[in-house]
Amino acid sequence: MKQAAFSQRTPHDVAMRVFIRTYGCQMNVYDSARMVDALRPHGFVAAENSQDADLIILNTCHIREKAAEKVYSELGTIRRLKAAKAERGGRMIVAVAGCVAQAEGAEIMRRAPCVDLVIGPQSYHRLPQLIAQALRGRAGLLDTSFPIDPKFDQLPEADAPEGVTAFLTVQEGCDKFCSFCVVPYTRGAEYSRPVAQILAEARNFVHGGVREITLLGQNVNAYHGEGPDGEEWCLGALIRSLAVLPGLDRIRYTTSHPRDVDDELIAAHREVPKLMPFLHLPVQSGSDRILTMMNRRYTADDYRRIVDRLRSARRDLALSSDLIVGYPGETDDDFQATLDLVEEIGFAQAFSFKYSPRPGTPAASAPAQVSDEVKSARLAALQLLLAKHRREFNEACVGRVLPVLFEKPGRHEGQLVGRSPYLQSVHVAAKPSLVGQIIPALISGAGANSLSGSLAAPVSE
Ligand code: 5AD
Ligand code: SF4
Repeated sequence: MKQAAFSQRTPHDVAMRVFIRTYGCQMNVYDSARMVDALRPHGFVAAENSQDADLIILNTCHIREKAAEKVYSELGTIRRLKAAKAERGGRMIVAVAGCVAQAEGAEIMRRAPCVDLVIGPQSYHRLPQLIAQALRGRAGLLDTSFPIDPKFDQLPEADAPEGVTAFLTVQEGCDKFCSFCVVPYTRGAEYSRPVAQILAEARNFVHGGVREITLLGQNVNAYHGEGPDGEEWCLGALIRSLAVLPGLDRIRYTTSHPRDVDDELIAAHREVPKLMPFLHLPVQSGSDRILTMMNRRYTADDYRRIVDRLRSARRDLALSSDLIVGYPGETDDDFQATLDLVEEIGFAQAFSFKYSPRPGTPAASAPAQVSDEVKSARLAALQLLLAKHRREFNEACVGRVLPVLFEKPGRHEGQLVGRSPYLQSVHVAAKPSLVGQIIPALISGAGANSLSGSLAAPVSE
């Protein structure tokens, strides 16, 4: 959970204070920053905490279990804050945004009358207008439409984020309809931003001090935005055009679908040094039967072949994945096939989940739901194997010199923390002035989640 902050004061006499609480994925973090960009010209500044806020926005996530219930419980707390502020003669507008807003719609205001407005992810450009209406006393404001004009054309230019790394949404939505997933319903149909718009935003970020950009999309490698030549460009082409921006040193992208790994993307991994050798490529299951039921439209062997091709293009490519255990109908043999695939691929890191039904998705009503006991046992076995691979991957880095992009001070005095090319956190004793620089570090220690080391050579400041 992260808070977006306003960095500037506005010329308005009386600033409205906004507090955004962000849940879930990196795209929500990006979206919260864009909401801030949209509100700033209308006189909003950051609230230090939710009690002080004139506007509270919950930017919600629907991917995890009981997501909506968690939002309702948070709204219970906010209702009390709003009432306390009203007693002091103040006023608080409460907005619910994000994927729960999209999925629940008006139901939110019915169950939580303290909510003034509900806004889906495709409508954030309309936020200032809706808030103005709420301030004028209109109740029950709802915008969960999927507008024809993409919001990106109407949102103000994104401000550069404060750190040296940034997320940049290039694609949104998904047409794949995996049978367990709510994303196609909450984020809508696939949409790719034009290349020129992305390049302009990236230049702006780099100008503000960003050295690494992670391109975001629910299905990022399905990217097919309009290029400056009027043709459709794929993700590989977009990466190449970003790679020539001076001052931008590292490019990553997430999340990819195996079916959309094409030759141009593989070639980009071979030929673009700024494209980092780390790829999050969810496989979900190692069983062809389950993959078919999930509507993933590849087999375990297809996945193996894609990984082979990627690894022959970039020998040191580290892979990450998402895995689901206990999908309806999953047998011991199916689960064993997942363990076999994981054993074979050797993921540098991975996320693993117990299947949990999402209302409205096909798998939720499948008859052969797996018991929670079996799911828990399978998840424990899978996580043991994944942890072993992660440890082995981290330990194999000990003794190597890795370029580290330093991001911020570490937990201990005199320490900085940065990222290796493989997205591991690296802790190094170094001066704060090295934040924002990429410097070779000799890795001397490996933990479950991070590395430690020292500067490989003396560095002048
Ligand atoms: N149950 C369990 N895991 C899920 N995911 C998405 N939907 C579900 C669900 N219903 C996982 C998938 C996806 C990741 C973001 O969350 O593995 O890749
Ligand atoms: Fe969900 Fe990803 Fe499947 Fe799209 S490709 S439906 S976002 S799991």
